[in-house]
Amino acid sequence: MTQHSHDHDHDHAASDHDAGETAKPGSAAQMWDEKYSSRTKMWSGQPNPQLVAEAAQLPPGEALDLGCGEGADAIWLAARGWAVTALDVSAVALERAAAHAAEQGQAATIEWVQQDLATWVPDRQFDLVTAQFLHSTLMPWQQALQLAAAAVRTGGTLLIVGHHPDGLPPWGAHHNHEKFFTAEDLAGELRIEEPVWRLEVLDSRHRSVIGPDGEAASITDAVLRATRLSAG
Ligand SMILES: C[S@@+](CC[C@H](N)C(=O)[O-])C[C@H]1O[C@@H](n2cnc3c(N)ncnc32)[C@H](O)[C@@H]1O
Repeated sequence: MTQHSHDHDHDHAASDHDAGETAKPGSAAQMWDEKYSSRTKMWSGQPNPQLVAEAAQLPPGEALDLGCGEGADAIWLAARGWAVTALDVSAVALERAAAHAAEQGQAATIEWVQQDLATWVPDRQFDLVTAQFLHSTLMPWQQALQLAAAAVRTGGTLLIVGHHPDGLPPWGAHHNHEKFFTAEDLAGELRIEEPVWRLEVLDSRHRSVIGPDGEAASITDAVLRATRLSAG
């Protein structure tokens, strides 16, 4: 199946939102607000395919979506009965996400949280923690994704998906490769092993996507899914 690129959208029009005025200069909030403000829509509006593949069979509970962007994954989860906490550093993205959720009748069960993962500490745990393409942070991916793992309650699921460093789209290949990881990198870094974790999926998945100028490309997703067996 060919999908529009996760990374780009065809709408390059200027944003209708004048945001960023409260974000600290040089902060992740300012960087991402500026990025989102450069277009009226950044992502496809569709849930990420690996989320759909991995979470469709999970019984609904409480979910945390880290780096939720414009909210398509959170809305998809809410529509399946999950109570969702959706966190992002960008107020611009969250405003759009909340508007989309309201349009789709899913506002009631999603809490939008504007926080920088560099300073945020989860105050509780969740049945599902998903982080999809949580790249381009000003913090190392290891630090952000340790937070994701720590926020999974016993019996719950950790789902992390990112761009595989060897499977970047041509239009994203200029990015600093330190931002990207394989599923094996993730499992090693987060110590996804018994007795604390049961590894369910460790995969590199190829996908066909359509780029910002309509070009077809193949990309690779790094996919890790694990079940927490104990507090650790
Ligand atoms: C590549 S986008 C992915 C968005 C969404 N998960 C998706 O798949 O459409 C990365 C997201 O992470 C957010 N982000 C980056 N750094 C962050 C940080 N330090 N704290 C919280 N969110 C951050 C960005 O604002 C952006 O929305």
